[in-house]
Order: sequence, then structure tokens, then C-alpha cells
Amino acid sequence: MSKVLSAVAWPYANGPRHLGHVAGFAVPSDVFSRYMRMAGHDVLMVSGSDEHGTPILVLADKEGVTPRELVDKNHAIIAAELADLGCSYDLYTRTTTDNHYAVAQELFRRCWENGYMVERTQRGAISPSTGRTLPDRYIEGTCPICGYGEARGDQCDNCGNQLEPEELINPRSKVNGETPVFVETQHFFLDLPALADSLRTWLEGREASGTWRPNVIKFSLNILDDIKPRAMTRDIDWGIPVPLDGWRDQPTKRLYVWFDAVVGYLSASIEWARRLPEVDGQSQADRWREWWNDPEALSYYFMGKDNITFHSQIWPAELLAYAGRGAHGGSPGEFGVLNLPTEVVSSEYLTFGDQQFSTSRGHVVLVRDVLNRYGPDGIRYFICAAGPESQDSAFTWRDFVQRNNSELVAGWGNLVSRSAAMVAKNFGEIPQPGPLDEVDEAVLATVEQAFTTVGDLLARQRIKAATAEAMRAVGEVNAYVSRTEPFKLKGDDQRERLATVLHTLIQCVSDLNTILAPVLPHAANRVHAVLGGQGQFMPMPVIADVRGLDGDADRTYPVITGEYSNTPRWGRTPVVVGTPIVKPAPVFTKLDDSVVDEELARMGG
Ligand code: MF3
Ligand code: ZN
Repeated sequence: MSKVLSAVAWPYANGPRHLGHVAGFAVPSDVFSRYMRMAGHDVLMVSGSDEHGTPILVLADKEGVTPRELVDKNHAIIAAELADLGCSYDLYTRTTTDNHYAVAQELFRRCWENGYMVERTQRGAISPSTGRTLPDRYIEGTCPICGYGEARGDQCDNCGNQLEPEELINPRSKVNGETPVFVETQHFFLDLPALADSLRTWLEGREASGTWRPNVIKFSLNILDDIKPRAMTRDIDWGIPVPLDGWRDQPTKRLYVWFDAVVGYLSASIEWARRLPEVDGQSQADRWREWWNDPEALSYYFMGKDNITFHSQIWPAELLAYAGRGAHGGSPGEFGVLNLPTEVVSSEYLTFGDQQFSTSRGHVVLVRDVLNRYGPDGIRYFICAAGPESQDSAFTWRDFVQRNNSELVAGWGNLVSRSAAMVAKNFGEIPQPGPLDEVDEAVLATVEQAFTTVGDLLARQRIKAATAEAMRAVGEVNAYVSRTEPFKLKGDDQRERLATVLHTLIQCVSDLNTILAPVLPHAANRVHAVLGGQGQFMPMPVIADVRGLDGDADRTYPVITGEYSNTPRWGRTPVVVGTPIVKPAPVFTKLDDSVVDEELARMGG
């Protein structure tokens, strides 16, 4: 049993989530975390809303509200969507807490004391018409490396390279189209070259483990070759103040997202521990250390591919700088030596047909709409079976309906329903089996084997292959029904054989329900009830309204949290003879083909 940190990328609090957002990291990280808990590991799953930065400011301006009002609204919306999707965070919090500010500032201060924050004059862009600074992301132009016409000032989404805004050819403001002017401004830069050797040693160790997705490790090693200091502060008035004399009170100098949201993994772990109730009069506030200071603990970071640099270079570099493990030496602060990521699990993009999802162009499928109309199972299943795990993949309504109807309803749901219905009709309870035939032994062995195969894949975040293997086992059990034809076993002389087949079947269905539970936790609870089980099988996250822990104690905000310690174990649990089973209600709902046209019409054709 290991301590497993499941660190999920922090979504921008700039509006409701669309399918592209949750396909990349939210659902995969939940499937992984749920599996790891079932396998007996001690999982801490954290994330939160990324509430600072320019996108928030620009949007707040547009909506005529303060940035705080905007993020209060959007944080609550996103937290509810993720909870309803079943994402089992131990804590989903936000970056605008005093706790987060304090943790980010402690990290910054120590990196600075250790000599890894260098002050430099940079040229920054301002908007000539308003005089306000224009952040990198709000400058667009042609990428000097690959020629892509819509590269952003900080990064080209086409070739993945990091850019400085001044490198762009024909730069223009995304806010109003004007050409920015560049002026001198003071900033702190993380001395990445001084950390490059330590980063390389770590990454080469990770490469040797052979477990990272090939694209991710290759990309991460590549970007080391041309590593340069990166600005960690920005000219903006919404964010975390720079915790140094002469900077603290400057209203327009704030920590950049690279020293803000990314620190959230640590601050959220600390917040989680600070919120634990005392045990025997003992504070539990230091328990986060079990996941961060113990070198045996494992950490898995889930994100979309535009975030790889963040997690395989910037965040590890910050952790190394904080510990004093770079060319300038130094020593760690109060948080001690913090673990570097074990795995950086990056997905590719989910597209809509052959285009990108785009909220601004209305070309979007919102998580909330899908949840309200079709519930969480269909979309979780689609993402697991056909999501962008290692290559871009397309969502279409036709595929969504098709997979729902043929795989969930006709494949898995039908197996559950007819198995339970036959038991209800013939015995009313799980019957005592007679001696097993070869065909019974074989199907039980196949399903038992699926625990190993599927579990192995899930532990390696190969969710697509794991889902396919689980569904293959469903197919085998359906084939067992066709082969043994229990519906034809009539008469007293065949009653024992009928009992044996149905007992075997119910055992297989119960096993398959456990195997599919990380992917389909909501359905797993319904199937559990169909099989006569009591209580909740898979624990679900809840929204709790909490108070800030520090100077922000007067503020109440929603978080996602949950009690997951009663998670079922991964492996066969023998079904209990005599458990009453009644005629079941359907587990999944078939969707009419008209859904495809309705949804396309909603999206404007
Ligand atoms: N909100 C940012 C983005 O979506 C950063 C998320 S990753 C984190 O790109 F590490 F900062 F959390
Ligand atoms: Zn490019």
C-alpha cells in the first residue's frame, strides 16, 4: 500500500466546463484515483479553481462585475459540475484563499532566499489606447518557430514551444486588435538554467522507469535543451502579492500563474489536512506531509497537453529550488523536501467532430447540459472508451448515442437486468449452486482474470484499454448466457443446473460491477442495489460550504470533498446465497436516435 497523490490540473474559473475540459484530466484522474483506492492505496486527490490571471480580469470587465464576484460565481458552478460528474476529490478548493496565498508566498520566499529568483528588467507589452499592461496570453501573432498564425504571447499551441510576446511576428492585442507597445518593467525570474542538471537527473530517472507516455517524456527532455529563466511575476493587479520588501505593496506586481495555480497541489493538500478533525485531541494538520515529504509516496499529475511544461519543468524546478537542490545550493523551508512528480499524465485534445471546442464561438458541449439531459454514466463511459488519452479524438453525438445504446444499454445493462430478472423469477434470491461444469469454471476464471488485466491497465492510467478489456469480459459473460441458455432450463430435473448457472452469472455480474466501478461509479451503485446489496457501493463526492481558515474566516465557499474510506476492495467478493433479488428496473436509459439531431440543432446546426 502506498500513499498516492492524485494531482488534477486546476481549471480556470472563467466559465462552465465543456467536454474538452473534463475529457483530458477530470474523468481520467477520477477513474485512476477510484481504482487506486480500491486497490488499497491511500489516495489524496486534490485540485481547485484557478481564479487569478488575465482571462478572469478581461471577462469580469466584460460582464461589469468585480473579478471576485466573477470567480465566486464560476467556482461554485465548476465545483458543482465536477461533483455531479462524480469526481472524487478529497479537496477541490480555490486559489483565492489566504491559505493558498501563504503557501505560494512561502515557496516564493524560500526560492528567492536560496538564490533561484533573479530580478530582471523585462520588456512588457502595454495597450497604447488604455495604458494597461497586456499579458502574454492576450497577445496573438505568428509563431516565429512554426509559422502558426494564432500563436499566443506565452506559448504556441501548434508547436508547443514557449514564447516571449516580443518574438511574435505581427503581434496584436486579443482584447481590441491594436498593436501592443513594449516597455521596460522589473520582474522575478526563476533561474531554470541553475536547476537544469537536477531536472535532467530527475527526468532521466523517470525515463528509465519506462512508465511515462512516450510523447510526454520526449517533450519534457527536449525542452530542457533550451532552458532559460522564466518570469514568475506579472504586471497585473489581481493575484498574489510578491512577498518581498519593496514588492509586497506594489499594486500591480503579482505572482504569475506558474507560481500560483501550480502551487495549488501543495496548498490544497495542506488545506485538506488543516480541515481534518482532531483525533484523540491531536491535530491532523501535518498529515499532508505523508504525501509530500515521504520519498516513498507516489504522485500522479493529470492535465491536458498544453500544460506539460508546467508540470514536467516549472513545478519540479520550483520544488527543487525550494529544497536548495540546484547549482546555487540552499536549504528547504518549513515544508521540507517536497516530492517531485512520479508521473506526468498528459492527455491530448477532445475535438468536436473535426474542430476544437470553442466556448466563444458557441461550438461547445457543456458538461452541465450533458449531465442534466443524460446523467453522468454515458459521458464518463464515452470519455473512458473513446477519449483523447494518447491522441486527439473526436466527440460526436452519433458516437455518444451509439456507445450508450450498444455498449452500456445492450451490452452491460442488459446483462445485469436479465441476470437479475431470471433470479427474481425463478428463485427470488441468489440460489445455492450445485457442482460447477467446465463452462461455469471457465467464465468465472475469465472474469477473475479481468481483475488483474484491467487493474494493471488502470494503475498505468491506460484507461481506454482498461475499459475495452472490461467490456470484453462483459461480452464473455453475455456469451456464457447464450451458451448455457438458463431461460431454457425448465422442470425439476434441471432446477439444480439452473441454480448453478444463475449463481455463476450473478457472481460474474457482481465482479464486473466492481471492475467497471471506477469508470461508472453511479451505475455501480444501481447495479449493487439490483444485486440485493445494501448501502452505497461506490462513495460519492459532496459539496460542502466551508469557511476560510485564516484572515478569510468571514468568507464561506463551496468545496468538493468526500469520505472514501469505505471504498470496496478490488477483487472478487463472493455473492451470498439467499440474498433477495427482485425484478430490476433498467440500469441505463436507451437514447433515441433523434437525440443526435436535437443536439445538433441546439448547437445551431
Ligand atoms: N488553469 C491553468 C490552465 O488550465 C493551469 C492549470 S494547471 C496548474 O492552463 F498546475 F496550474 F494547476
Ligand atoms: Zn509554433
